[in-house]
Amino acid sequence: MTGPDVVVHSGGDLLAAAAAARLITKLVDAQAARGLASLVLTGGRTGNAVMEHVRDSPARDAVDWSRVDFYWGDERFLPSGHADRNETQARAALLDHIALDPSRVHVMEASDGRFGDDPDAAAADYARVLGSPVPAFDVLLLGVGEEGHTASIFPDSPAVHEESLTVVAVRDCPKPPPTRVSLTLPAIRRAAEVWLMTTGEAKADPVAQALAGASPVDIPAAGARGTHRTLWLLDSSAAAKLS
Ligand code: 6PG
Repeated sequence: MTGPDVVVHSGGDLLAAAAAARLITKLVDAQAARGLASLVLTGGRTGNAVMEHVRDSPARDAVDWSRVDFYWGDERFLPSGHADRNETQARAALLDHIALDPSRVHVMEASDGRFGDDPDAAAADYARVLGSPVPAFDVLLLGVGEEGHTASIFPDSPAVHEESLTVVAVRDCPKPPPTRVSLTLPAIRRAAEVWLMTTGEAKADPVAQALAGASPVDIPAAGARGTHRTLWLLDSSAAAKLS
């Protein structure tokens, strides 16, 4: 695989609209080739904006949504239906509006779910859901945090050092809520395509550092890559410090 591809859009809303169009096309192509498609969703404002643009796109139903497997790259470990859960936000932004197959929506367990308030058990369960090896997802979407986190993998945290587990519980996160469940970098790297999507000047430093080859321990987003393609989708503010 060659290095990452970088696409810079003039603004955040345009980025979200263009990423949505790109995603629809990618899922259509995957289904044309294999009948099925798999998509890993992300939390965060940019990821939600992309989902909303997919929802509102006239091309939306070019995808057979009943033949898309949905996964999450991370989840905020909160009760089911909590407004801050990535699942809740993805349902509002897209999943509640499309003719999906509920058995293909693979959520991470909530803190009032089958395992109670035990994020390690929820993580172990999601590792079972993913199986071994982890699927070669068609597209895995990610956001980027101001200090370089991606999914819920934070700089110099136990999660960024994880080499064998595919899903981990994450505690003491600097971004609320403090407890989360996240895919690890080895699991993320099973995806065919990884798209890192971010906007705004607060992201310019981590973006520049990741693309300059920072260590994933310092900038976890630098360690997220796909087997076929790693694509950074930026607005001009987030791209401002690229050399
Ligand atoms: C989450 C995320 C996290 C997010 C980034 C970017 O659940 O919080 O998955 O990794 O994608 O923090 O979030 P913004 O797009 O809101 O800046």
